[in-house]
Amino acid sequence: MIDFDAIPRSALPALLKRMPKAELHMHIEGSLEPEMIFRLAQRNGVPLKYASVEALRAAYAFTDLQSFLDIYYAGASVLLKEQDFFDMAFAYFEKAAADHVVHSELFFDPQTHTERGVPIEAVIVGLSHACRRAHQELGISATLILCFLRHLSEEQAFATLEQALPYRHQFVGVGLDSSERGHPPEKFARVFARCRELGLHVVAHAGEEGPPAYIRSALDVLKVERIDHGVRCVESPPLVQRLARERVPLTVCPLSNVKLCVFKSMAEHNLPALLDAGLVATVNSDDPAYFGGYVNDNFAAVFDALPQLGARQAWQLARNSFDASFADEAHKARWRAALDKTFDEAGQAAR
Ligand code: ADE
Ligand code: ZN
Repeated sequence: MIDFDAIPRSALPALLKRMPKAELHMHIEGSLEPEMIFRLAQRNGVPLKYASVEALRAAYAFTDLQSFLDIYYAGASVLLKEQDFFDMAFAYFEKAAADHVVHSELFFDPQTHTERGVPIEAVIVGLSHACRRAHQELGISATLILCFLRHLSEEQAFATLEQALPYRHQFVGVGLDSSERGHPPEKFARVFARCRELGLHVVAHAGEEGPPAYIRSALDVLKVERIDHGVRCVESPPLVQRLARERVPLTVCPLSNVKLCVFKSMAEHNLPALLDAGLVATVNSDDPAYFGGYVNDNFAAVFDALPQLGARQAWQLARNSFDASFADEAHKARWRAALDKTFDEAGQAAR
């Protein structure tokens, strides 16, 4: 039995860092740091409208999701070759390994690249090469989730799925991202049905900026296995009860939510309420290069701002990340045991 009460608050920052964890909501294009954007722009001869790294970083003052997406898609325009996708993803994996991430399910947005004439092969082959290297060299279990852009049509999503099918074995699932308001999940009902038939896992962003009704239709129409963000579920108590009862995981991204003004400050974030309601909430970085940090920065920020969160919640969040992952049971069992050992030792050291 882990003695959570024995672990003092002072031990929490180090524990949050070293506990093993899975990251389930990270857009790989959102890990492009300004320095890498400039390096790739130069390597590929792509013009940028910002004069320097500092000028680009200064533009990262977002007022909502759309104001971020405009800059995020401009940043991704420097990615042209298979090597670019490999370099971007491997740089993320090195940071993830330092944060004790043992399993990562990366989102990627093929349409952001194929619309610019980049072959989907360069995207998927570059990213999956990085996943393999992350496993061999860093010991991270890494998989890919292909996201459809919801501001585009379902027909375009079908065309993207068709292009991706020769690489079917290189991604484990599909997701739905980009501008949420005005693009409800039901717009993608048929393409998600096809993906389920193909045996792909299905997830969707819902309830980040959009209403609880979008979470409900992601569950009922798209039949998703996890909700990305989902923080607006609290506006509907029956929906919260359903998410808890059905153990639908929420991949929560605290720094993103504050940067995109979903919450005014971290102190107002509803993560403690989600956990108290028994939801399978997890902590993730979303777009770490744009929102002020990687997964451990997210843990540090949310625990620092919210004194209700202690060792028990830290353990629960890491445990939820394994439970919610699409990894096999043997891996999950190993990670759960490593997590318990980390907390057991922290409890014993404190006695
Ligand atoms: N694409 C990248 N980050 C996103 C987010 N937070 N919401 C929707 N689409 C995204
Ligand atoms: Zn996201």
